[in-house]
Amino acid sequence: MKTARAWKLGGIRDFQMMAGYRQQRPHLKRPIWIIAFVTFFIIFLTGVYVYPSGSGSLASCYFFSGRGCTMLEQLPATPTRELTDAENIAQVVFKEILNKPPVRSKNPKVAFMFLTPGNLPFENLWEKFFHGHEDRFSVYVHASSEKPIHVSRYFVGRDIRSEKVAWGRISMLDAEKRLLAHALLDPDNQQFVLLSDSCIPLHNFDYVYNYLMYTNVSYVDCFEDPGPHGNGRYSEHMLPEVEKKDFRKGSQWFTLKRQHAMIIMADSLYYTKFKHYCKPNMEGRNCYADEHYLPTLFHMIDPAGIANWSVTHADWSEGKWHPKAYRAQDISSEFLKSLAAIDETFHITSDEQKKVTIMPCMWNGMKRPCYLFARKFNPEALDKLVFLFVNYTTV
Ligand SMILES: *[C@@H]1O[C@H](CO)[C@@H](O)[C@H](O)[C@H]1NC(C)=O
Ligand SMILES: *[C@@H]1O[C@H](CO)[C@@H](O)[C@H](O)[C@H]1NC(C)=O
Ligand SMILES: *[C@@H]1O[C@H](CO)[C@@H](O)[C@H](O)[C@H]1NC(C)=O
Repeated sequence: MKTARAWKLGGIRDFQMMAGYRQQRPHLKRPIWIIAFVTFFIIFLTGVYVYPSGSGSLASCYFFSGRGCTMLEQLPATPTRELTDAENIAQVVFKEILNKPPVRSKNPKVAFMFLTPGNLPFENLWEKFFHGHEDRFSVYVHASSEKPIHVSRYFVGRDIRSEKVAWGRISMLDAEKRLLAHALLDPDNQQFVLLSDSCIPLHNFDYVYNYLMYTNVSYVDCFEDPGPHGNGRYSEHMLPEVEKKDFRKGSQWFTLKRQHAMIIMADSLYYTKFKHYCKPNMEGRNCYADEHYLPTLFHMIDPAGIANWSVTHADWSEGKWHPKAYRAQDISSEFLKSLAAIDETFHITSDEQKKVTIMPCMWNGMKRPCYLFARKFNPEALDKLVFLFVNYTTV
């Protein structure tokens, strides 16, 4: 509006100048001149009214096409394509879910969802973690190969109906969705944490609960990797809905807020794209939907709603297909505390440049430790972890 006001003042100055001009030109008939001016002024005011706050200068450009009005050329380009029916439907549903205020339950809980082939070797450690907080969490177990034998009361009776899971295939995502669908049935569950059989907690329960509950983002790992293990896995069959510029990568170990978990339930459009066109041995390339679907989807629909890192630490420094697996001899209180204290995330691209991006972990605007959980730990590490738990989780 500032510019518009300047223009209006300019208009008045022009009027005075023109008035002076008129006196020297007595042959110009006064009523015609006034009608012309008033009409002109009304058109100008209409322009300012139609293009309210912020676009006043644009209105001025329309009505006084003077020099220096480059605004018109800077207007955002019109979308290059019309959205498909499925995209319009998805947008409506996602927006509705995202704009709904979070349901505040009287007894908010964190859902711990374990994705495992069979037994959970660290149940006794988790038992120490959960003990004393019975009304603030729920446990769900998806065992894909064999029925687990549970040793902790917090896990007994918590198996959900499961199906086979093949590493890197869509069945992995299906199992994650199955866990979410079960956990969402409990309206008290507000945060949904995906964990594996080789994960351990790095902090005590209160710390983890507060970290997740008093935040408004989901911890979904997400970064752009132009290399062969990132964009190199993209297939143009995903067009038009998923463009290469939106393709993202990230670890599968997420925490989701309830709204985001609902979006995963509601989405079939993007899920189907990844199911068909992001799989091992796709056109001679390997794509793993569990590493790309969530990061890409949330990058596209709610980029500010995800933290862009995973709260589950993994050590990829050995450069293998799986992260380093820690043995009992690797473990000490100091070591676990050092993992728990890391407060910067690290991403590296898979091209020749191997570009490293280090970001501070920001929690509600404050720099905080990044990781609540860690993997992978060998089952033989159990006794040592149970012994050290109170020590390494005491700040
Ligand atoms: C989360 O909360 C912070 C302030 O605590 C706010 O700045 C930010 O916009 C919120 N983000 C979302 C996605 O609601
Ligand atoms: C995550 O990254 C996206 C860019 O991809 C950015 O827009 C967003 O603000 C980031 N999220 C947070 C919480 O910083
Ligand atoms: C934890 O263990 C270390 C030695 O590993 C010891 O120095 C420290 O006092 C212990 N802390 C607590 C809180 O027990």
